[in-house]
Amino acid sequence: STRRIVLGIETSCDDTGAAVVDENGHVLGEALHSQMNTHVEKYGGIHPVLARDLHAENIGPIVCEALRQANIKVQDCDAIAVTIKPGFLLSLYEGVKYAQRLAADAGIDFPFLVMLASGGHCLLAVAKDINDYLLIGKGLDNAPGDALDKVARSLNLRLLPQCARLPGGAAIETMAKKGDPRAFDFPTPQFKTPNCDFMFSSLYYKAMLREEKKHGIKPGEILPSVADICASVQYNMTLQLVRKLQRAFIFCMKNKLLPDKPSMVLSGGVASNLYIRRNIQRVCDDFDCTLVCPPPKLCTDNGVMIAW
Ligand code: KG4
Repeated sequence: STRRIVLGIETSCDDTGAAVVDENGHVLGEALHSQMNTHVEKYGGIHPVLARDLHAENIGPIVCEALRQANIKVQDCDAIAVTIKPGFLLSLYEGVKYAQRLAADAGIDFPFLVMLASGGHCLLAVAKDINDYLLIGKGLDNAPGDALDKVARSLNLRLLPQCARLPGGAAIETMAKKGDPRAFDFPTPQFKTPNCDFMFSSLYYKAMLREEKKHGIKPGEILPSVADICASVQYNMTLQLVRKLQRAFIFCMKNKLLPDKPSMVLSGGVASNLYIRRNIQRVCDDFDCTLVCPPPKLCTDNGVMIAW
């Protein structure tokens, strides 16, 4: 059929909405997530930062649901429309950023930069073609997800009700929200060596052991500084990812490995961390690069990547 189809995205305030509509005004798919209860429960009104975080969390599933109802893929849409005003700046920005990413996602060309940060791997590569990668950085010890899982285990995070059902990395992200990222000064390795390799193991244990000794913590008990440790670990990890990514962009520019306005794909379970994602987005903005984050279900182990 030749009828035009538009995907609409709305994130101006505290509702995350998406719909697919054709040019005759037929609504083909529609999904909405309301944050109202969360805001009212916590603050008695709308909190802009919480609104932004909830949009970031829900926009992917909401858009997918609208597309699923319409029984189409994003590539089949003729246009993507998104609210640009009026509304909360942080909320609007989340929707606009997502829409731009989706528009770019519909046709990402080789070569592009890829960062994989998962439970088993950490790597930076230029994807030149299907199955043709130039590896420019790799993990030399524990993968970031593995390091986060170990920290979460030593801190007994699963005993905390808000973390009980979360994977280690997500538990740390949750606790980090209430902590001070500068409370613990972990070493940041490899900054002087001019490469893009990563190291995450053992970075965090000394600080934890020191704290446990100081407070006389026994197995199964929770450290009073747990939020500060989580925030500092997350900050330290992000710092390393961001520095190596900057270095990778510079290396790629010097060696003309990427086009003028490049794209980057960020993938792996750790990439679902919104703090990490936001900071990687900043580096991409600096290098005029479009950041593409595949939906979380395609970032972790799945059959689609094997079939492709
Ligand atoms: O990609 P993935 O499924 O791992 C492999 O198959 O290798 O990712 C799993 C890892 C786990 O280590 C988990 O703790 C971490 O991703 N992870 C997170 C978050 N959610 C899951 N790490 C940081 N922040 C999160 N929100």
